[in-house]
Amino acid sequence: MSEIARGLEGVVFTESDLSYIDGQQGKLYYLGIPIEELAEKSSYEEVAFLLLHRRLPTRDELSAFEEKLKARRGLRVEKVASFVDYPRDVHPMAALRTAISELGLFDPKEEDLDPENLYETGVALIAKFPTVVAALKRVREGKLPLEPRDDLSHAANFYYMLNGEVPSPEQERVLDVALILHADHGMNASTFTALVIHATASDLYSSIVGAIGALKGPRHGGANEAVLKMIQGIGDAAKVPEWFRERLEKKERIMGMGHRVYKAYDPRARILKRYAEKVATAHGRSREYEILEAIEREAERQLAPKGIYPNVDFYSGVVYSDLGIPPEFFTPIFAVARIAGWVGHILEYTEKDNRLIRPRAKYTGELDLPYVPIEQR
Ligand SMILES: CC(C)(COP(=O)(O)OP(=O)(O)OC[C@H]1O[C@@H](n2cnc3c(N)ncnc32)[C@H](O)[C@@H]1OP(=O)(O)O)[C@@H](O)C(=O)NCCC(=O)NCCS
Repeated sequence: MSEIARGLEGVVFTESDLSYIDGQQGKLYYLGIPIEELAEKSSYEEVAFLLLHRRLPTRDELSAFEEKLKARRGLRVEKVASFVDYPRDVHPMAALRTAISELGLFDPKEEDLDPENLYETGVALIAKFPTVVAALKRVREGKLPLEPRDDLSHAANFYYMLNGEVPSPEQERVLDVALILHADHGMNASTFTALVIHATASDLYSSIVGAIGALKGPRHGGANEAVLKMIQGIGDAAKVPEWFRERLEKKERIMGMGHRVYKAYDPRARILKRYAEKVATAHGRSREYEILEAIEREAERQLAPKGIYPNVDFYSGVVYSDLGIPPEFFTPIFAVARIAGWVGHILEYTEKDNRLIRPRAKYTGELDLPYVPIEQR
């Protein structure tokens, strides 16, 4: 049998046009378009269209897609009511996982794997994820969930449902950019999980629920929340050098640093850093920002030679905090963005490949051993 690729590192199992990561140069493209261009000029709705259709929309197509999303934002009342019964102290990613699974229970076409139904269900999930996450947040706060508003963009409506007020144009833009940056990222762990489930010919909800479970982990999407906890634990930028040394001595990881594919600065982190810096200077969140900068300085000396740099999760938390989002909701925000990538990859895999994904493990046990009766063991 061939060499073991631990953690499937370097294994290529399918083709995809959706996103390309140049890990050596620190570049990311969606459908060949540099992420910097999309972050500056596009919207989340347009990026979602791009990932689902594998091309940019015309003006009419984009308007129609935006309307389609708006029309699907709402949740059935009884669905929202069930959120009230979720324990308040569970992680919101666990609640999101359950909520999306519940959506599947109430979809009579859950088992319909026809590509057209997959597309329609995928669009509905992209539209509903913000409503679900915002409702979960408000219920945890003892408040009533807010109905989505169809006079607002995807990002502005999400902000409104989370915070109960319409965002300023700057706040809307920051959230829109954050959603664009997180929308897709090659064959990452949650996307792969979604494809593994989809390739068994299971339903779309199961694939997405699996993806949420993978994203929840702190080695993947959960790192953004871990970064904020790390900053809070340090408390002061002056303590960073000592803290950093101790952490490395204990062989503990610096959260928000390092990546399986990037061996250079993550371009998404570079964009988010600019926003984090803006927020830090404008709204006096400089303590958190200063701590991150101090960590980055230490990492530049001690980790960069090993190809370890800040990733997307390093600066996102500071930005989200400024948008009034509590740390435990950072990873659900990631999911609200990544649902477009998950659905896009599922549609693409269905069209191009659609083969069961089934790797093997190298068997290291023995063979032909006698079965020892239990009383003789
Ligand atoms: C993302 C991550 C899981 C990738 O891991 P990976 O590709 O499996 O890399 P490995 O675990 O093989 O690590 C390779 C080396 O880099 C070191 N390393 C990787 N990430 C590190 C980090 N964040 N801090 C300190 N050292 C790190 C490892 O200790 C290892 O060192 P060694 O070779 O001396 O033992 C890893 O970088 C990590 O845990 N980062 C922190 C969590 C995070 O921010 N995740 C979000 C990713 S977007």
